[in-house]
Amino acid sequence: MNNLPEHVRRNRLLWDDWAQKFVAAGEAAWAQDIPTWGIWGVPESQIGMFPQELAGKEAIELGCGTAYISAWLARRGVRVVGIDNSEAQLATARRLQQQYGLEFSLLHGKAETTPFSDASFDFAISEYGACLWADPQRWVPEAARLLRPGGQLVFLVNSFLMMLCMSAEEGIAATDRLLRPAFGLSRIEWPGDIGVEFHLSHGEWIRLLTSAGFEIEALVEVRPEPTATTRYPFVTLEWARQWPCEEVWKVRKRA
Ligand SMILES: C[S@@+](CC[C@H](N)C(=O)[O-])C[C@H]1O[C@@H](n2cnc3c(N)ncnc32)[C@H](O)[C@@H]1O
Repeated sequence: MNNLPEHVRRNRLLWDDWAQKFVAAGEAAWAQDIPTWGIWGVPESQIGMFPQELAGKEAIELGCGTAYISAWLARRGVRVVGIDNSEAQLATARRLQQQYGLEFSLLHGKAETTPFSDASFDFAISEYGACLWADPQRWVPEAARLLRPGGQLVFLVNSFLMMLCMSAEEGIAATDRLLRPAFGLSRIEWPGDIGVEFHLSHGEWIRLLTSAGFEIEALVEVRPEPTATTRYPFVTLEWARQWPCEEVWKVRKRA
């Protein structure tokens, strides 16, 4: 533990502590056949996180948590590996694997450096996983290394716009004002919280993704349905209907 990068060590402590709070949501997601995404449960048909052709492909979920995305992929004939920094989150994933009789590899580790060979996967995905909690300067090049030429990386994160509209205090919903400077944001530590999050501007994402060898195919700004609900206090439906509070990046490793 002591030889881990500081943010990885802190996020491991955080997620081992928070894991219990994510059990119910993990169980509910494992019970779903049709994927829904993000804090509003936006349907797959609306944002297309999964590629059209999946069966027989090899995939990795970066920061899999309770591994419901890996479960959805495995049920679609994908050979999937989930990697996560929290043993407590993986314990829930393992229990649910047994409950559903679904076998795939789960690895305790960090997305910044993984033990897999170059070009091992066709598809990499992350929903509020490594794409939020791992150092982007490390996990993005690592994802590029792991993918085969032509392989796709898809990830869903908080929108940069929403992060700019959030005060430094945790638990207060995003406002209609810019409360943080955009330049130099990158890393956020909430007061009284041990965790470390990373939030890049669109320009920073584009520079990082293209320099790692990706071509950007789409940036989807997620809009919830008028009747959507969320258990998270950091944004209201009224806000999220007016501005994107989540965004999906779809990028492909240059062939
Ligand atoms: C919000 S969960 C993501 C799983 C699921 N999609 C969800 O939204 O509940 C975030 C996960 O990222 C994991 N994580 C944090 N830092 C990581 C890192 N450096 N490498 C891999 N996983 C990491 C945490 O342990 C946690 O399980």
